[in-house]
Amino acid sequence: MQNFDTELVRRGTGSLKWDRRADLDPYWVADMDFTSPEPVIEAIRARVGHGVFGYALPHAGLMEAVQSYLEKRIGYTTPEEEIIHLGGLVPALSLAARAFGNSGDALMTSAPIYPPFLGIHNDAGMQVISTDHIEVDGQWTFDWDAMAAQVTPQTKLFLLSNPQNPMGRVFTEAEIIQLATFCETHDLILISDEIHCDLILDEAATPHFSALNLPSSLRDRTITLLAPSKTYNIAGLGYAFAVIPNDSLRRRFTAARGHTLPEINCIAYYAAEAAYRHGEPWRQDLISYLKKNRDLLTSTLREGVPGAKVPDIEATYLAWIDCRETGVEKPIEAAENAGLFLSDGAFFGHERCIRMNFGTQASRLEAALEKLVTALQP
Ligand SMILES: Cc1ncc(COP(=O)(O)O)c(C=O)c1O
Repeated sequence: MQNFDTELVRRGTGSLKWDRRADLDPYWVADMDFTSPEPVIEAIRARVGHGVFGYALPHAGLMEAVQSYLEKRIGYTTPEEEIIHLGGLVPALSLAARAFGNSGDALMTSAPIYPPFLGIHNDAGMQVISTDHIEVDGQWTFDWDAMAAQVTPQTKLFLLSNPQNPMGRVFTEAEIIQLATFCETHDLILISDEIHCDLILDEAATPHFSALNLPSSLRDRTITLLAPSKTYNIAGLGYAFAVIPNDSLRRRFTAARGHTLPEINCIAYYAAEAAYRHGEPWRQDLISYLKKNRDLLTSTLREGVPGAKVPDIEATYLAWIDCRETGVEKPIEAAENAGLFLSDGAFFGHERCIRMNFGTQASRLEAALEKLVTALQP
């Protein structure tokens, strides 16, 4: 069993997380301070050992691993042609905007949200319509009334993050059906980014309902985006895939690709295959570890910072900390003054909020939380 408590030296390894601000202790971008599962590292070593790194294609083993993952995890039997391999999920969001929107059209999403959701409309000369998530009975959900009021005939897409980054919500079957029905009513394509779906912390309590689980009439207007990258900590290798059940949507999506995307990394395919085939025991251990970190973070901040709101984190290793009622005007600066590098909520669409990555050693997290509690006192 992997020891997630082992502290690693990441500084000086060309790490975005650790080397961007060498003066601060990093808890920002979504990658974890854990080595990947051993079978993934072995698969990479074996592929590197061959010594030839020419253009790659998705080999049979990768295809089988992805299809079997979709079957077991989501219960969706996926014909090979419905799977489009990609070097990353963010380029897929941009591709979707360019495929289904023209200059002057709009796309919708709900905030706070992973920053590229609020930026990719620019790639297609589109507008973005963003409604805020609202709290209903203690749960953050969609503001259906605001969405209905703000959608326009020029709106072409809805961008969903499920599980939700940064709030950690796992949307229920009822919510996803309601959202897909909203998309049907307003003739929108639903882009469902499910990159965090294997990081659900209590699957029995909050099961994943994928866009691929929708009834076929609704599923037909969806593009589901998935990747092993967040779960197995291989985001730097660049591999993701889209599942597009509808032929015409798939053709439009691939046609929009043009010459804009690079070939997929020949090593990433092998890492992805190994992650899906052999990563499950490691993933189970990871989830247990993250749960403890989540509990430590939520209780420390809820008790220690008057007015701070931390939603119940059902998935991911990211915590959304709403500081609007703490009396602290600039929480991101307060964190920085305490030596901590967190994500600024402004990029997610909400000022005076911060996001903290707790995918790290519990000892580091504990020390950082202590500093953060002091920094966020009014
Ligand atoms: C919701 C969501 N989508 C996409 C990504 C990034 O995907 P990629 O690295 O494959 O572009 C992230 C990374 O944090 C994310 O949280």
